[in-house]
Amino acid sequence: MPIKTKVDKIIKSIGSISIQDFIELSNFDNEGFYNLNEKSKISKNGHFITSPEITPLYGYSLCKQFTDVYSNPSKVHLLELGPGNGTLTKDIFNYLNKQNITISRISFLEKSSYFKENIKKKLSYDINFLDHIKDLSINNDEILFIYSNEFFDAISSKQYVFSDKNFYEIRITKKNGEYTIIYEYTALSDYLKNFYSEYSFKNGDILEHSGILLNYLEDLNSILKKNFFFTATDYGYQKLPKKSTLRIISNHQPIKLFDKFENVDYSFGVNFELIKKVFNKFNPNFMSQKELIKNFLPEEFKNTTEESTLKAKKILSTDIFFDMGSSFNNISFFSK
Ligand SMILES: C[S@@+](CC[C@H](N)C(=O)[O-])C[C@H]1O[C@@H](n2cnc3c(N)ncnc32)[C@H](O)[C@@H]1O
Repeated sequence: MPIKTKVDKIIKSIGSISIQDFIELSNFDNEGFYNLNEKSKISKNGHFITSPEITPLYGYSLCKQFTDVYSNPSKVHLLELGPGNGTLTKDIFNYLNKQNITISRISFLEKSSYFKENIKKKLSYDINFLDHIKDLSINNDEILFIYSNEFFDAISSKQYVFSDKNFYEIRITKKNGEYTIIYEYTALSDYLKNFYSEYSFKNGDILEHSGILLNYLEDLNSILKKNFFFTATDYGYQKLPKKSTLRIISNHQPIKLFDKFENVDYSFGVNFELIKKVFNKFNPNFMSQKELIKNFLPEEFKNTTEESTLKAKKILSTDIFFDMGSSFNNISFFSK
């Protein structure tokens, strides 16, 4: 059933749908963006392109972050969150393999059946697919290397608007056959005011808050104890922007909400302040993607004159392509 029909059914039965449910349905329903079968989703010929799909140098830089902390690990368990095509893990596997580091297991948290099938066809390694982060089992002699690229920005969020000292939920409904946005009373208003008490809000400010993201972060927190290294890169911010960060992309082009319902990718700016707070005990390190490449690109690629390497470095670390250098940020932390 088309996404639009499903959205209409929900609106007809309960009057409106939350932004979070609308996006969850659009991204992950059977006919949703991430499950639709097509030739290519993340690539030059797909809908958008990501750092690992541009160059393996991105994955090599994450490896350098890891080996700076664990210079001689005996066995490494790789865990990627939202691997998409699986390219990043392929690059990381190749790089660590060349350093004679043993990869004991590869685990993926991937929700999309399309990507799962693609990965099984494309990667020749034995992959342990997880349904939940908490299902991960780690052996005592393994170091867990956990990483993600543009995973957290694909997690949907609710949106609220501040008005007369309270938050109201932004929801979608239909009036006279047209989709429209409405503001509804929410019992969460006091909780939100308390949760973001260090901020002051004025009428019209928008707050994005995702219970789904919080659950993922708490699940991660419960498995990360010792002998791990975590690194994640995403499009996002350190201070609440108090406006909508929703990005809607189809065929490499930004589109507007309700322009189109099928085969559209929705993502949100990631709240790095929240991630930092949840993992505060590990003293997270925060930097832009530009700094990540500057600080961690392995030596052998630093002084290259090879044209394609130079071009890839430039795309990852400057603002020439989707502001990749400055709007993409990296957070990393570990415990030994
Ligand atoms: C924007 S894509 C990035 C893919 C890949 N990391 C890359 O950089 O090319 C987001 C990925 O996260 C996966 N994903 C999003 N939400 C997820 C969730 N809740 N659980 C598991 N995977 C999820 C998607 O299926 C997709 O593979």
